[in-house]
Amino acid sequence: MHHFHYQNGQLYCEGVPVKAIAAKVGTPFYLYSAATLSHHYQVFDRAFEGFPHIVCFAVKAKANLAILRLLARLGAGADIVSGGELYRALQAEMDPGKIVYSGVGKRPEEIRAALKAGILLFNIESSQELGEINRIAGRMHLKARVGLRINPDIDPQTHPYISTGLKKNKFGIDLERALEDYRRAMELPHLEVMGVACHIGSQITEVTPFVDALERLKELIQRLAKMDINIRYLDLGGGLGIQYDRETPPHPQEYGQVLLRGLEGLDCRLILEPGRVLAGNAGILVTKVLYTKESTTKNFIIVDAGMNDLARPSLYGSYHGIWPVAIRERPLIKASLVGPICESGDFLAKDREMPAMQPGELVAAMSAGAYGFSMSSNYNARPRVAEILVQDQDFYVIRKRETHRQLIWGESIPEFLK
Ligand code: LLP
Repeated sequence: MHHFHYQNGQLYCEGVPVKAIAAKVGTPFYLYSAATLSHHYQVFDRAFEGFPHIVCFAVKAKANLAILRLLARLGAGADIVSGGELYRALQAEMDPGKIVYSGVGKRPEEIRAALKAGILLFNIESSQELGEINRIAGRMHLKARVGLRINPDIDPQTHPYISTGLKKNKFGIDLERALEDYRRAMELPHLEVMGVACHIGSQITEVTPFVDALERLKELIQRLAKMDINIRYLDLGGGLGIQYDRETPPHPQEYGQVLLRGLEGLDCRLILEPGRVLAGNAGILVTKVLYTKESTTKNFIIVDAGMNDLARPSLYGSYHGIWPVAIRERPLIKASLVGPICESGDFLAKDREMPAMQPGELVAAMSAGAYGFSMSSNYNARPRVAEILVQDQDFYVIRKRETHRQLIWGESIPEFLK
């Protein structure tokens, strides 16, 4: 469920017509609905009612301070993967006691910053990382709370670039190695071993891979208990898919029910790291048609947003719904919606039936709230776009459009070229 809908032929975000925002801030821009985000968070959180749990929003999906603050107010924690994400989460006043830190390549200064902030848990991804966190915690005269991220070797049946829990992926520690690494972790004086974690992939549209992963981790927890290693946090990662096109992902409630059934008898706290399912359908990218052209074989609709603004179609061949901001009677044509970037891979939609749109009109790429702005770049020296948050009848600029001056920030011409 989301709050982007048509009223009298005009696309609205909650109570605000999209065209009114475009008139004020120009195009392109990302547009988020506060009501949708809150609703998604609450539905997800409620799905785990009755079992002690923390919902740690995956900051990589959508890292804007206002969005993080909104989720924090609702009770969310954060799943971070870098010092930059830690900084963002803290700036948004998210509770460090609800922050978990995953990632295969944590640097010493990032580890130090996270220890200093007092985060809940490091999800450790290699044997060497165990040693490094122990060393740094020792220097700081404190103990690091850690869990091991396990690679459960589960095929999540999603795009290969976003599946992470297969043996061939770089993530986590092999199940077979896990006991040995836990034993080693227990011997390290500056670690407090309290967690088991996994994250098997993203945009997963079945419950089975999650259930299988849970089963494997449960067995591990039971074996650890026999070694007197008491697991207090079980982190099942993120990954629940959303509907972009015709996918039929499980409703969060179903996902919750199935997992809760699997968790029966376990005495620990559950951590979840949803990103896409909270933010994906809470945001759109609004862009303007610049030109249309017909080649002998194809129709192109050229818009002012490109693959630097929304990389997913180019990178993964992802589908985003294309909605005109104003509905009018007109024919459907087969066309590609392309951006101004100098690459043939620069498209938001490829060879798809869509309304024959005209220069000057606004069009929205739907379901762009997760991994949209957060993956955007300045390629082709394009300033990153503005971000707008709607709440009810009002809208707020939560990130200004970048300027050309910002593009060259920090660059300098050395003496010998002057
Ligand atoms: N936890 C960890 C450790 C992760 O690596 C991820 C996502 C998540 C949680 C959140 O997963 P979600 O609930 O959003 O599926 N750029 C890709 C998605 C990459 C996901 C990376 N990790 C895309 O645009 O589809």
